[in-house]
Amino acid sequence: MTSHQVSPGGPLKGRVQVPGDKSISHRVLILAALAHGESRITGLSNGQDVLCTLAIIEALGAQVAYDGEVLVINGGTLVSPPETLDVGNSGTGMRLLAGLLAGLGIEATLDGDASIRSRPMDRIIDPLTAMGAVMASADGQGHAPLTISASTLAGIEYVMPVASAQVKSAVLLAGLNAQGPTTVREPSISRAHTEELMAACGLEVNVEGLSVTVQPGQPQAFTHQVAGDPSQAAFWAVAAATVDGSAVVIENVYQGPARTGFVEVLKRMGADLTHDPVSGDLTVCSGPLVATTVTAAEVPGLVDEVPVLAIAAACATGTTVFEGLAELRVKESDRLATVEAMLVTLGAQVEVAGDQMAVTGGRLTGGLIETHRDHRIAMAGAIAGLVASGSTRISDWDAVATSYPNFGQDLAMLQSADV
Ligand code: S3P
Repeated sequence: MTSHQVSPGGPLKGRVQVPGDKSISHRVLILAALAHGESRITGLSNGQDVLCTLAIIEALGAQVAYDGEVLVINGGTLVSPPETLDVGNSGTGMRLLAGLLAGLGIEATLDGDASIRSRPMDRIIDPLTAMGAVMASADGQGHAPLTISASTLAGIEYVMPVASAQVKSAVLLAGLNAQGPTTVREPSISRAHTEELMAACGLEVNVEGLSVTVQPGQPQAFTHQVAGDPSQAAFWAVAAATVDGSAVVIENVYQGPARTGFVEVLKRMGADLTHDPVSGDLTVCSGPLVATTVTAAEVPGLVDEVPVLAIAAACATGTTVFEGLAELRVKESDRLATVEAMLVTLGAQVEVAGDQMAVTGGRLTGGLIETHRDHRIAMAGAIAGLVASGSTRISDWDAVATSYPNFGQDLAMLQSADV
């Protein structure tokens, strides 16, 4: 489909507002659909993933109105949808909505694109069926489409085998319509949006260390202003750090648990970067970077930022090692393979062994990057193209709309800002 050419570019300057956080956007839509009365949301992500979830809650009976600024959702009574629910490319949509639907006492089928149909859903089918959900995967192997039938749920204590906020959230959402409390224990901390937002809309949630317990209940209608998405901010942070002469302010970036691991890694690499605790503004200026080690324990806090951090590593002095990357194999693409291939194309030195990747900094040449329709590979490739010596072409450029439809315009704006 559409490919896109990026040429080596001059400095990036000025201020940029990234889309509202994608993870928070999915969750506010789902909680607003469950809540009786009028919830008011501003700053929702305009990415296609989130628009799919918005269309799904409408198909389930939530009433949605948008005045160009505030999204007003009237929820509370959800019904069986007439058609299959299409999550598009969104693993978060698929898994969280499965959790929502499991306890609603209605029948619905969730499906998505080719990437979604290849991603493991057994990680939510197992705990949800343990709660009493009736779910069938079309191929019987834990892949979408998934059909969920009416059943009653009982709360469980679930020890998660993988650190996944999506799995945690699916189980907690199902727990709202279960009998008795539901507890999820994570192997390490993952993003905490579900428990934060549940508490903010009056639900009884208790967090103790790595365990989260939710009591059954219905959220109260709420007002929420979605903060900027750190995962999108990471692209501009790496661009500003690596393109000589750059100085960029990324406005109002969310800075809660398990989302800003990339800030710590870039700081360790010597980046000139500050994250204002009050405004959330992330200010990044260019400068030399040095290699670091990203440990397995850090990965859940920067799991989506590995593609662009790999570009930072390819521009740094020395060899950066990323450990514990197994989960990248089951993202929108096999991201360990697509990141490796991207770096090879760009002329960087990269070695992948098991779940570990070592990237040695050097000169990037450019080339044709195959994104496999993975939005984060497309955007990381575009940032690499700015520092490469030759030109870089990126396949399936339209995939950036999955999470950041205005990425190309924002890049042009930062390149042309006269400050
Ligand atoms: C997300 C959690 C992460 C992340 C995804 C969004 C979420 O996945 O990769 O893009 O919103 O909960 P896992 O929790 O499965 O690692």
